[in-house]
Amino acid sequence: MPPLTTKRKATGDVWWRNAVVYCLDVETFLDSDGDGCGDLVGLCERVDYLAGLGVSCIWLMPFYPSHQRDDGYDITDYYGVDPRLGTHGDLVELVRTARDRGIRMIADLVPNHTSDRHPWFRSAREGRDSPYHDFYVWADEKPAEKPGDVVFPDQENSNWAYDRKARRWYLHRFYSHQPDLNVANAEVRDELAQVAGFWLEQGLSGFRLDAVPFLVEPIGMPPGAIADPHQLLRDLRRFMGRRNGESILLGEVNLSPEQAVEFFGARGGEQLDMLFSFTVNQAMYLALAREDARPLAAALDALPPLPQDCQWAHFVRNHDELTLDKLAPEERAEVFAAFGPDPGMQLYGRGLRRRLPAMLGGDQRRMRMVYSLMFSLPGTPVLFYGEEIGMAENLDIEGRYAVRAPMQWSDEPNAGFTTAEETRRPVLAGGPFGFREVNVARQRRDPHSLLNWMERLIRRRRECPELGWGDWTPLAQDDPAVLAHRADWGGSAIVALHNLGGRATQARLELAEEGVLVDLFGERDLDAGGRRAIALEPYDHRWFRLRRPGRRAAP
Ligand code: NOJ
Repeated sequence: MPPLTTKRKATGDVWWRNAVVYCLDVETFLDSDGDGCGDLVGLCERVDYLAGLGVSCIWLMPFYPSHQRDDGYDITDYYGVDPRLGTHGDLVELVRTARDRGIRMIADLVPNHTSDRHPWFRSAREGRDSPYHDFYVWADEKPAEKPGDVVFPDQENSNWAYDRKARRWYLHRFYSHQPDLNVANAEVRDELAQVAGFWLEQGLSGFRLDAVPFLVEPIGMPPGAIADPHQLLRDLRRFMGRRNGESILLGEVNLSPEQAVEFFGARGGEQLDMLFSFTVNQAMYLALAREDARPLAAALDALPPLPQDCQWAHFVRNHDELTLDKLAPEERAEVFAAFGPDPGMQLYGRGLRRRLPAMLGGDQRRMRMVYSLMFSLPGTPVLFYGEEIGMAENLDIEGRYAVRAPMQWSDEPNAGFTTAEETRRPVLAGGPFGFREVNVARQRRDPHSLLNWMERLIRRRRECPELGWGDWTPLAQDDPAVLAHRADWGGSAIVALHNLGGRATQARLELAEEGVLVDLFGERDLDAGGRRAIALEPYDHRWFRLRRPGRRAAP
C-alpha cells in the first residue's frame, strides 16, 4: 500500500506525528499509599485527568530500580520496577488503563550507561576474567581528554575514573557512578535489544532514548571497534519494528540540525523516528527574550527536510536544565538577563533551572502565547508535567531537580500529592506559584484557567494534523515581533500568528487563495483573499484554518 501521507487516517498509522506527549516522573506525580513517594497506582488514578486534558502519549521518566544518584537515570536493573513506585503488575495495569483511554505510553531507555551498582559493573570490576568486564569501556592508562567534554562540570572533571578493584580506568560520559556501556560489544547490544523487547511486551509503545550522541561515539574504543556507530540504532529500530510495528524511538540528540538528522537515517524508519529539536527550543527563548521572532524563524528554517514518517519533537521545558548551549555566549547572556539573572537560577554556565511561568513573571497572556507558539510549530508537542497549570520551579531543590518538584493537585497539605508529612523533594509552598495558588483543583473550577485553556489548545492541536504533517512556510512580516506561518497538508492549511512583543501590532497576511480564515480560538473569522493587516494584541496568538470556497467547514 502506498504511504497515506495526506489523509487523516494516516494520523492513526504514523501516530507520533500528531501526538501530544506528556512527560512525567512517577515519583513526583501522585502518591497513592501515603509513603511520600509517588507511585504507579497513583498515576493510574490520574489517567482520566490526562485523558481529559487530551494527552495521547505519556512519556515515563525512568521507573527502574536505581541507585538514585541521577534520579533514576542510574539503573541497577533494566528489567525491574523500582519497588518504591510499585510492581510490574501495577505498571501493566497502568499501561492497559491508559491504552483504554486512547493514551500510548513510552518510557526512558538508558542504554549509554548503567549505575556502578548494576550487577554487570560489580562483576566487571572483578577484572578481565569477569564475563561482564567487556560490557564497559576500560583503559590501563588514563586516556587524553578534550577540555570541555564533561557533561556535569559541577561534579566531574574527567570522563575517566580509576577503579581500584579492576585497577583500570573506565569511561563515564556523565557521572563517575555511571560507567558507560561498551556498545562495540555484540553481547551488550544484544542485551539492550532484549531490554527494549521486554518492555514492548509489557505494552509500551517505544522509548525516549537517552543521551544518543554519547551512545554512538567510539570514545575509548580501539580504532575500528565500531565500523559504523549508527548501525546500533538501525539494528535496534529493526528489532523493535519486528516486535511491535507501531513502536517509536524518540531521541535526545542535542546537536546542530545537520548533525541531528543523521540520527533519523536516510530513509524513514531507519534509525530514530523522532528527535527533540533543541536548537528550535533555544532559539525560541532568544526570540522571547528579544521580543523578536527572527531567531526562531531562522532556527526553523535551518531544520533540514524530514525523512518520511520522521518528526521533530518541540518543547518549552524538559526535566533537565534548560540548556542554552547552542546559543552564542552573548545570546545566552541575553536570555540569562531576561529570564534568569540571578546566578542561583543558572546552571553549569549554560542553562536555566527555571520553569516558564516564573521566567515570565506569571504573565498569562505571554505564557499562553508561548504554548500556542510551540504547539503550532512543525512537529509534535511535548509537555512536562505541571506545565498545564503553570507550575514554577522550586529553587530550594538543588540543581536540575528544581523543576522536578511534586505535582500541585490542590491546596491541601503537600499540594494533595501525598498524605505523608515528608516528601523527598519539597512541594513549592510559598509565593504566587506555590500550591495554594497554583493547583489543578482550583483551575478545574475556573473556566478561564490555564488548565482549561491548555485542554482547548491540545484539542485544537490534535484537530490540526496540518501542523504535524504539513509543509511549513513562514509568511513575511513588517514587524519583527510577529511570527506568522502556514502549514499545508492534503489541500488544507492552518495559518498561525504570534506576537512575541508586549506592544499591540499588526500581522501582514497576503494569501493567494480565496475563502474564509476560520478563527480556531475565537469568533473573528476573516476573508482570506488579498492583502490584509490583522490586529494583534500584546503577546497575542491566533490560529486560522483556511476554508476554501465550496469546502465543508471543519468543526
Ligand atoms: C540525560 C537525561 O535527560 C539526564 O536527566 C540524565 O542525567 C543524563 N542523561 C544521564 O543519564
